Amino acid sequence: MSRIVFVNGAFVPYEEASIPIMDRGFLFGDGIYEVAAVIGGRLVDEAAHLARLDRSLKAIEIANPYSTAQWTELMSELARRNDLDQGLVYVEVTRGVAERDFPFPPAGTPPTVVMFTQAKQIVGAKAAETGVAVITTPDLRWKRRDIKSVALLAQVLAKQEAARAGVAEAWMVEDGYVTEGSSSTAFIITRDDRLVTRPLSNAVLPGITRLAVMKLADEMQLTVEERLFTVEEALAAREAFYASASAIVMPVVAIDGTAIGEGAPGPLTRRLRALYLDLAGDGALASRFA
Ligand code: PDD
Repeated sequence: MSRIVFVNGAFVPYEEASIPIMDRGFLFGDGIYEVAAVIGGRLVDEAAHLARLDRSLKAIEIANPYSTAQWTELMSELARRNDLDQGLVYVEVTRGVAERDFPFPPAGTPPTVVMFTQAKQIVGAKAAETGVAVITTPDLRWKRRDIKSVALLAQVLAKQEAARAGVAEAWMVEDGYVTEGSSSTAFIITRDDRLVTRPLSNAVLPGITRLAVMKLADEMQLTVEERLFTVEEALAAREAFYASASAIVMPVVAIDGTAIGEGAPGPLTRRLRALYLDLAGDGALASRFA
């Protein structure tokens, strides 16, 4: 079966898909994206992802080309056409194609819309069993990290640094405080069992998985604290993990070479992951928190 992607309203074989070189996403990084997981052939928490997509589009003044219902239908159809059991759907919207010039192109220039799927093992992922190591690195990004911009150069460099160090993720640090992972939200669990993650602001992406994790933690009667935390506090934590649509809840067992807690996935982290996957597998994540 050939890989099917979505480009500007049509489902086409990957080999036939193309974007003009004057696309502003390509020239300026002038666009936004979303990533939603697929588990058991079903989109996970898609309404929340589509709400953030809409928010990102509004923030950079691109009209949303589809309604939530239309997006949901298109994303589901793409997953179906690719026979996707587990993995993710990637969605990108750019300001479209126009002669290169910095200000917005003439009104009425249609946005470019691209979607593709990637197969990825989520349930039973080996990394989640063993836990992963992370490094810390300075946060080199711009000041609107709450927008899910396709301009990801700082994250690419951070992730490459992690790859060179042989670890899974880089936690970015600003003024001594962890902001977030290069493509995930950072969490720690303190020695007195408080779940800590950075509060929402322009400094971090409002993670969709983050929100679900916080609600699950609340149901588990864990105290949830949205506050800044330092690298030193993370090193002294009982447990640590990161969360994203593609990693779900990923136990962190070492930071910069120092073991966290017992140096193995912690019990609360494992429980949060299991709870999330249970709900996602039943398609019950969104309704549980509605
Ligand atoms: N990344 N922070 C950053 C900087 C991210 O890029 C992501 C997601 C998250 C977690 O957000 P969510 O839980 O909504 O996936 C936090 C996606 C998965 C990516 O770029 O592939």
